[in-house]
Amino acid sequence: MTALPKNNNNQRPIDFDAIKRLTATEALAVDQLILNELSSDVVLINQVGHYIISNGGKRLRPMLLLLAAKALGEASQNHLILAAVIEFIHTATLLHDDVVDESELRRGKESANAVWGNAASVLVGDYLYSSAFEMMVRTNNMRVMEVLSKTTTAIAEGEVLQLLNCNNPETTEQQYLEVIARKTAILFSAATRLAAILSGSSPELEENLAAYGQHLGIAFQLIDDALDYKASAEELGKNLGDDLAEGKPTLPLIHAIQQGSAEQAQTITQAIKHGNREAFNEVFEIVRDTHAITYTEQRADEEAQKAIAALASLPDSEFKNALVLLAQFAVQRNH
Ligand code: IPE
Ligand code: IPE
Ligand code: MG
Ligand code: MG
Repeated sequence: MTALPKNNNNQRPIDFDAIKRLTATEALAVDQLILNELSSDVVLINQVGHYIISNGGKRLRPMLLLLAAKALGEASQNHLILAAVIEFIHTATLLHDDVVDESELRRGKESANAVWGNAASVLVGDYLYSSAFEMMVRTNNMRVMEVLSKTTTAIAEGEVLQLLNCNNPETTEQQYLEVIARKTAILFSAATRLAAILSGSSPELEENLAAYGQHLGIAFQLIDDALDYKASAEELGKNLGDDLAEGKPTLPLIHAIQQGSAEQAQTITQAIKHGNREAFNEVFEIVRDTHAITYTEQRADEEAQKAIAALASLPDSEFKNALVLLAQFAVQRNH
């Protein structure tokens, strides 16, 4: 094994809770909006909705929207509404994603599909999507609706593209990046773009904030895919090896195929083709031997640096600093 340079991002741990405190008051109001919206007279919607929302989650996307709003001025009532909308859309995608990925652990608890089954998860996910659209209409802003409807369409495209790549070991790094740009990064980008739209920012500033969110989202998903081969389930709140079980050709595996010996490449190829969780230990060793996690982290670090560079035109403030730190957190995190 040859040593690769370490990420410079890994040096100083980011105090995520300190960043969270900067928008604590607004986040509380957002949580209240979320809880109000979950009160349906259909019992199962209440149960599943509260279960997934109350099981925590980092609330990273609403935090980004609120920090961007405060970096640009004030967080208005419409900012709070859209922060709740973004978290609803995110949660809906998680409910659907865990059905598609057959995942049984989410946010440290049994996933909703493990508790109530696939049908309930899909239908409550649909309810969250619809509620999100109902809420966003309240902002009475056509640009907002345009951005969010384009965003949800792109997320769906990303998930379907990913389905097409599953069990295909020939998936390229480029194809993988197209999937994560749509399924994950576009929602981060929508969060920061919407903050700019509601704040009446210039078109340049709006584009810069959208670019920040997009690069950050890519970094975030790259690390999510690395963590599937690296973290502990306890820390992550999700089971390791879910991606392999599904035959998902994520960057750690794509890199391991490219860099491994013919025999190692063959092992990974077969594991992707057959979606074989039993091969996890063997695949894990190859991923380690080929420095595939380091490679993935380096790609994520590059994206985080691009995200930070996109903030250059934003006036200096503690909120801007927090956005910089969150880009670093996306790479450093272990959950
Ligand atoms: C999980 O997102 C889905 C991905 C895009 C990787 P988060 O890691 O933000 O999930 P929660 O909301 O904190 O549970
Ligand atoms: C992210 O992909 C899912 C969405 C963006 C909907 P993953 O499938 O990797 O997310 P986790 O690991 O289940 O949270
Ligand atoms: Mg998943
Ligand atoms: Mg994942």
